[in-house]
Amino acid sequence: MFQLPPSPRAIAAALAALLLCAATLAHADDRPREAVALGRYLVQTAGCNDCHSPGYTQNAGKTPENTWLTGDSLGWQGPWGTTYASNLRLVFAGLTEKQWLAHARKMESRPPMPWFSLRAMTDGDLKAIYRYIKAAGPAGQPAPAYVPPGQAVSGPVVRMP
Ligand code: HEC
Repeated sequence: MFQLPPSPRAIAAALAALLLCAATLAHADDRPREAVALGRYLVQTAGCNDCHSPGYTQNAGKTPENTWLTGDSLGWQGPWGTTYASNLRLVFAGLTEKQWLAHARKMESRPPMPWFSLRAMTDGDLKAIYRYIKAAGPAGQPAPAYVPPGQAVSGPVVRMP
């Protein structure tokens, strides 16, 4: 049967498809969009939002996403003094991914920060959290500073034994 030779346009389209394929493969190792999506998922399901996003627990997770992880002025009071969940959007602005991994592996924050949960995470999950927070960018004000035991604080606190 007689067959038409492929038109130059069809050849160009096939070549373009091939190039696109090669480009995708080349970046298969480093999927920035997937990492950001995984980071968002972890921030939402591993508890980070519960304390680090303003009002998140009290309003059943309805805190607008553009203020996620901007810290909270609710104090956590106990024998350690009063702590406030940090503004991670600002903290991460000054951290490289490498510094974050090192920090997450050795930090021992005061309660109720579950620093031991960070240690139990894989490097991949920690990197994904980093990518999500960096993609969101810096926002908000720093959380109130830590107050040592026995010193008065203004504002609401959760008292822990
Ligand atoms: C139960 C509340 C709570 C949860 C859940 C929580 N944090 Fe925290 N986090 C805190 C508090 C409070 C501090 C401040 C501790 C201090 O002052 O020593 C803190 C501090 C931190 C710091 C240190 C920031 C700095 O200033 O250097 C990082 C990083 C951090 N949290 C990350 C996370 C991540 C990531 C998650 C989720 C996996 C998470 N936290 C979950 C309460 C929480």
